[in-house]
Amino acid sequence: MRIGILTSGGDCAGLNAVILAVVRRAVLGYGWDVVGIRQGTHGLLQRPPSVMPLNDQVNNDGMLRLGGTILGTINKGNPFNYPMPDGSFADRSDEVIAGYKSLGLDALIGIGGDGSMAILRQLAQQGDINLVGIPKTIDNDLAHTEYSVGFTTAVNVAVEAMDRLQPTAASHDRIMILEVMGRDAGHIALFAGIAGGADVILIPEMDYDLEDLTRHCLNIRKRGRNHALVIVAEAVKTDKGDSVTVGSDGQKARYGGIGHWLAEELGERTGWETRVTVLGHVQRGGTPSPRDRLVASTFGVHAVDLIAQNKFDRVVAWQKRRVVDVPMADVIKGPSLVDTGDTMVSTAIGLGAYMGTPPEHKRTAKIV
Ligand code: F6P
Repeated sequence: MRIGILTSGGDCAGLNAVILAVVRRAVLGYGWDVVGIRQGTHGLLQRPPSVMPLNDQVNNDGMLRLGGTILGTINKGNPFNYPMPDGSFADRSDEVIAGYKSLGLDALIGIGGDGSMAILRQLAQQGDINLVGIPKTIDNDLAHTEYSVGFTTAVNVAVEAMDRLQPTAASHDRIMILEVMGRDAGHIALFAGIAGGADVILIPEMDYDLEDLTRHCLNIRKRGRNHALVIVAEAVKTDKGDSVTVGSDGQKARYGGIGHWLAEELGERTGWETRVTVLGHVQRGGTPSPRDRLVASTFGVHAVDLIAQNKFDRVVAWQKRRVVDVPMADVIKGPSLVDTGDTMVSTAIGLGAYMGTPPEHKRTAKIV
């Protein structure tokens, strides 16, 4: 047997740990060959396809600790709607499939988020490719899995930032705002907000009111504390309902700047000196956390075992401390948002953090 593996979408910590787990299980457990495809589906558009043999990595235990992905990845260039140099868009899916077929692979493991997974599944159906998916995204917004690879490292980075911001906030009598990533969902802001002791946690799943927010901050001061910590997810909108973006990559808007907008508003309304830190891609790089290595390892082994059992069109998932697998069709239905009625939200509010309100029409649920 000869299997392929690719990473697709934004990178995150733990991708190399997944690759290592796949190689170890495939090579040591089954005696198969593993071929790495470079730059996601982009590698399959090259002639010859851009690939690297991975069997030698079986001894490379440094992979467990290494950030990024040795295969490279892309989060643009959907082969069904591929941006051409002349500004038009073309369907290049047949070329990608032909590239895959030329490699003589028996199955493909795709490590990606819901967007990548949807594209890979469409390619698999069109090209009769035996596909297994492994969830990764710092946003943790894939349905049916409690954890995606990369999430806990991103949370750890955000909590470390909060730990560093708190003393400087206290030294200078300031409100410190930390803007974190999360394209559609506020999981990073919520987890890091609780663990980092935020006084305000703003996520796209909940509406906030600037008057209430101002009152909340002033009450902190009245109670005798000279500083406040705010964490805000990049996808939170202004009070007028506008997203704050820094341009677009041609197909998707790029978030960034809600922290600065909030600082202006809060600073003016409270009269409190306010500063902003935008964490950005720092959350995606670096050494994976032990939890991410654990999740990556279980996912990699289970994905190879699925191939050995001829089980395809499935995604591995983490549910109640177990690795399971679920139909890919269920995972790609869309992002799994913060459940505004769940323990994390009630805990944050119970700790006294301001989170705004979950209007009934916006009530969402992370499907697990
Ligand atoms: O989906 C992961 C993510 O890091 C989001 O949180 C963020 O909005 C986006 O990717 C950033 O993408 P890029 O690397 O293209 O700036």
